[in-house]
Amino acid sequence: MGFLKSQIAAIRKHDPAVRSLLEILTCYPGLHSLAMHRLAHWLWRHRLLFLARFISHMNRFLTGIEIHPGARINASCFIDHGMGVVIGETAVVGPGVRIFQGVTLGGTGKERGKRHPTVEADVFIGARAIVLGPITLAQGAKIGAGAVVLDDVPPGRTAVGVRSVLVEEGRRIPRCELTELKARLEQLEATLKEKNNEC
Ligand SMILES: CC(C)(COP(=O)(O)OP(=O)(O)OC[C@H]1O[C@@H](n2cnc3c(N)ncnc32)[C@H](O)[C@@H]1OP(=O)(O)O)[C@@H](O)C(=O)NCCC(=O)NCCS
Repeated sequence: MGFLKSQIAAIRKHDPAVRSLLEILTCYPGLHSLAMHRLAHWLWRHRLLFLARFISHMNRFLTGIEIHPGARINASCFIDHGMGVVIGETAVVGPGVRIFQGVTLGGTGKERGKRHPTVEADVFIGARAIVLGPITLAQGAKIGAGAVVLDDVPPGRTAVGVRSVLVEEGRRIPRCELTELKARLEQLEATLKEKNNEC
């Protein structure tokens, strides 16, 4: 019953809206999904792979939370609301972590082996944050709602926002290169305008 105790304590600690034990046991999909995940993870570790995947699929069907049976998640992790959460096979989630709806702990699609994030103790991950790759969110880090995180976050630091950049042939185009291109384009436009005026 260590799991249930940890879940009840985590929900009481982190959700100011909670009213009763009955409510915790019946109305928290995070608790239900982690309970089902424990079974799926046990089956996975005992090489009952199909059964494990099937339980995980049922878990998704019932709670809207998709956790690969291989993921390692501490019993005191609190998944709040939960709908749309996706946690990949090699993700590791430590104690006291809070995860809101829509969070992805996924792979970038490029790595093999350990390819999902490691989330250390007491990390907070806001709604719809996308955390990709075998990176580490170190102890006590906070990830803002809607953030896209592709690099390690140091202990206690907060990461917010989405910063997309152009990529070409597998590499980022540095901002200075873009600025240079913009300047050359402006110069070209000015020359063309000049030539048109001359005609
Ligand atoms: C990131 C967060 C944890 C706050 O962290 P914090 O360290 O206290 O940050 P602050 O509130 O001091 O904000 C610092 C800066 O980040 C910005 N910021 C905060 N959250 C942000 C977010 N999610 N996306 C983009 N920018 C954000 C603030 O606007 C501020 O910038 P500014 O100084 O230019 O105005 C919080 O804003 C957040 O996103 N929480 C998620 C809550 C959630 O998912 N709730 C779901 C409930 S159903």
